[in-house]
Amino acid sequence: MRIDRTRLAASMEALGRVGETPRGGLTRLALSDEDRRGRDLLVGWMREAGLTVTVDQMGNVFGLRAGSDALPPVLMGSHADSVPTGGKYDGQLGVLCALEVLRTLAERGARPRHPVGMVIFTNEEGARFQPAMIGSGVLAGKIPLEDAYNARDRDGKRLGDELERIGYLGPEPCIPRPARAYLELHIEQGPILEEEGLPVGVVEGIVAIAWSRLTLTGVQDHAGPTPMRIRHDALVAAAEVVRAVREIPRRVGGDMVATVGRLDVSPNIPNAIPGRVSLSVDFRDPDEAAITRALGMLDRIVKGAARREGVTAELEHYWRVPRTNFDPGVVDAVERAVRALGCGHRRILSGAGHDAQYMAAICPTGMVFVPSRAGRSHCEEEFTALDDIEHGANTLLLAAAELAGASV
Ligand code: GLV
Ligand code: MN
Ligand code: MN
Repeated sequence: MRIDRTRLAASMEALGRVGETPRGGLTRLALSDEDRRGRDLLVGWMREAGLTVTVDQMGNVFGLRAGSDALPPVLMGSHADSVPTGGKYDGQLGVLCALEVLRTLAERGARPRHPVGMVIFTNEEGARFQPAMIGSGVLAGKIPLEDAYNARDRDGKRLGDELERIGYLGPEPCIPRPARAYLELHIEQGPILEEEGLPVGVVEGIVAIAWSRLTLTGVQDHAGPTPMRIRHDALVAAAEVVRAVREIPRRVGGDMVATVGRLDVSPNIPNAIPGRVSLSVDFRDPDEAAITRALGMLDRIVKGAARREGVTAELEHYWRVPRTNFDPGVVDAVERAVRALGCGHRRILSGAGHDAQYMAAICPTGMVFVPSRAGRSHCEEEFTALDDIEHGANTLLLAAAELAGASV
């Protein structure tokens, strides 16, 4: 049994038009009108594939196909939201490959022992509402539902209100439920598979992630008459922090990465000294202890920068996800699937966060990676060749079928 690559490509093309940017990328922020349109399209396809569709209190959308026995389901999934000016593969591809596997199983009349289904998680990106992976985080019992509802975007809009506005505030409780396994196909978003010429990565786990938020408050004043000696410029302190964060991975050693990706400057005009700046810090490392060291360094860097500029600093380490090792049984099932296809593959650790990271806390979990051209992602240049996607989707099919007790 194999997936239908022509049908999969057609679905990618159709979903990719919802929120498409002029340069061929994608802007489909969580709970935006584009997200609603993308979800509506997917839900229509899920129903056509004979799935029973339900929506939970976090807007996570489930589509299930019954098994022959009353057993916990094998779930496949990912997210359908994107970052601004992102690509058409991050998340979307995992959702569409899950759907393609379910379409294939239905078409072939396969009747696995376990139910098999798919899930589309809400706000995985953390681009509009922080933190990332919020839908799976609530589902796994790691983020309180009320905290998730109260997350606000840049314009002050509440996640809970936006969920209701787009019609995806569902009735099903968003709580951990038994599952035989969770499988997520995703683009690698890094260069390893392409460099090694391999179509499939058997993902063993995900690095630890920590997000912090810093707000620096100085004195807003006129850019002309205010002498340099009496200024307290929040942006100057922020610049020192940005530069120093860049040095932390080198100081910690190993494979750490650190990013300041967001900067909000107030009042953000040419002729006023910035009175207030907030910025984000993102640390990732395979080693949990390295993250703890980095956060300590950040505390000291911020204190020093604030003191030198005479500004106040409020630093919040508000989100942390531990290093995750996937279930050896599921990882082996993915490897058996790719071997059965005779494709080149290797084991790999994910540097990006995925809903699988939270799902791993509640059920046996694994992932399938496909290569990213030039390792690029979270940008419009994101691309994965259809041949690689086909190998990845067939790996997902065979692994899901094995875990669900189907003969293929
Ligand atoms: C999700 O895209 C992440 O930040 O890793
Ligand atoms: Mn993703
Ligand atoms: Mn992403």
